[in-house]
Amino acid sequence: MIKLAPSLLAADFSRLGEEIRKVYDNGAQYLHLDVMDGMFVPNISLGPGMIAPLRKVCPIVFDVHLMIVDPIRYVEAFAKAGADIITFHYEACEDRQAVIDAIHALGCRAGMSVKPHTDARLMEPYLKSLDLALVMTVEPGFGGQKFMPEAMPNLEYLNGAIQKLGREMDLEVDGGINLQNASIVKEKGANTLVAGSAVFGAQDVGATVRAFLA
Ligand code: DX5
Ligand code: ZN
Repeated sequence: MIKLAPSLLAADFSRLGEEIRKVYDNGAQYLHLDVMDGMFVPNISLGPGMIAPLRKVCPIVFDVHLMIVDPIRYVEAFAKAGADIITFHYEACEDRQAVIDAIHALGCRAGMSVKPHTDARLMEPYLKSLDLALVMTVEPGFGGQKFMPEAMPNLEYLNGAIQKLGREMDLEVDGGINLQNASIVKEKGANTLVAGSAVFGAQDVGATVRAFLA
């Protein structure tokens, strides 16, 4: 079954509670929360202090995407804020296994992400301990960008590698995903779709969530 993770970055920040409830009530399983530090990416978004109060809105799975340098410094803060899944970037640190272990020790699921031009084969040593692999299909930093087909070899590789391992994992794609290209990434093995502007920018948010999940 396909999972949808609407990215809150594209929501109306003056009515976050309502926006979250709308996607949850229409069947979205995850809420994608993009955390940017102005260092790993040239943008600043939200922190744990903003995520914690949103936890009260509904029991949707909080899928936190850390686009920050040296992520181990903040995994505890995001776990305490209510993260269920914490994903960090392969490119953001050296001791990646330590980050995975720290996330698991906090009782969260661990994800690792690669930027479009990073070879996903570098993730191989970590796959056996990860719960989620995230293929970026835009350069991280901003919502509303155009899907990059050059990231497809990363998706194909990870799909094959995960199948070979025989593991149940989320294989997530993030960036420029819409109702048109969703079928392409699903065919290539993605089972979790992040969509920001395609969901929250739609005329009918609820109907769009249902269309992604149909
Ligand atoms: C980009 C973020 C994405 C982004 C997706 O750095 O990681 O999650 O919000 O937004 P859309 O779907 O608009 O590309
Ligand atoms: Zn993201």
